[in-house]
Amino acid sequence: MTSAQATNTPDHQAQPLDNRVTRLLGVRYPIVQAPMGWIARAQLASAVSNAGGMGIIETASGELDAIRGEIRKMRDLTDQPFGVNIALMYVRDPDIVKFVVDQGVRFVTTSAGDPSRYCAELKEAGLTVFHVVPTLKAALKAVEAGVDGLIVEGAEGGGFKNQRDVASMVLLPLVCSKVKVPVIAAGGYTDGRSMAAAFALGAEGIQMGTRMLSSAESPAHMNWKQAIVAAQETDTVFLNRGGQGPALRALRTERTTRIEAQPPENMRAEFAGVLDLYFGGDMEAAVPLTGQVCGRIDAVKTVSQILQETVNGFREAVSGLARYGS
Ligand SMILES: Cc1cc2nc3c(=O)[nH]c(=O)nc-3n(C[C@H](O)[C@H](O)[C@H](O)COP(=O)(O)O)c2cc1C
Repeated sequence: MTSAQATNTPDHQAQPLDNRVTRLLGVRYPIVQAPMGWIARAQLASAVSNAGGMGIIETASGELDAIRGEIRKMRDLTDQPFGVNIALMYVRDPDIVKFVVDQGVRFVTTSAGDPSRYCAELKEAGLTVFHVVPTLKAALKAVEAGVDGLIVEGAEGGGFKNQRDVASMVLLPLVCSKVKVPVIAAGGYTDGRSMAAAFALGAEGIQMGTRMLSSAESPAHMNWKQAIVAAQETDTVFLNRGGQGPALRALRTERTTRIEAQPPENMRAEFAGVLDLYFGGDMEAAVPLTGQVCGRIDAVKTVSQILQETVNGFREAVSGLARYGS
């Protein structure tokens, strides 16, 4: 924990946490806001970085001109560290690496593709690189590629998933027992208790998707946020199992119930109305990617509330467990 971080922490805020993730990322709290196509842009990412976590700008939308503008906007909205996710399957333009480097971004996560594609180039430019992995095999391949750390994503999470889904409870301790690099856990994290569980399984940070998607600063339409608040833990579907391309976890709607029953030839076509859903609030216009943790989200909260409650809850959970230690 740098002295700057300690002094930068307003009195009423939770004290920073000190470990390899907070040191590598230069943040107060080891909490990363997940990259989410169209959602993870300056409005949300700057709120997370200003609140002491790591805000991330997405590239999965493939709208690189708009994303260049969002990365520039971050400079006006925060002086805290932020990162960019390069969703390899969706970003065909190799110039994205040069752009990210030129913008002075220090932290990059890569996902949905070969970890060795840009790792060496990014590290040569002095960036910190974490890669998202859904299996042990992918984790070992990423470490071999030279990444600084891993984001280990369990099948509970929202978004695109590995066809052979593995839950965090199994995947996280398995990967942590086989690698030496720091691990950030993703899939099902929303509060201090789940963060403490991730740390007990070997992680040194958490990534939140669905929780941040349903936050006050998220640009997603209130209909989607309220649907998450109203959802139960059984209200997500796992689509495209055994189909072409990645599987995906989304909220149960009439459209996703139909897709679950009759997998379409072309899954990409089911996203044609994505902006009508994400920002227009028409929940049947496309596929609302959402994690099972929606069953534990019962209110739309500000990013700062989410981070403070999570870190305070984490400390409570850890000290609560400590009595079993002696
Ligand atoms: C709406 C949505 C969009 C997502 N888009 C991406 C993406 O572009 N790149 C990526 O690496 N992960 C993506 N994810 C996965 C998240 O990064 C994260 O790992 C996942 O949401 C964690 O699980 P949780 O939803 O239970 O927090 C997305 C998730 C959601 C819910």
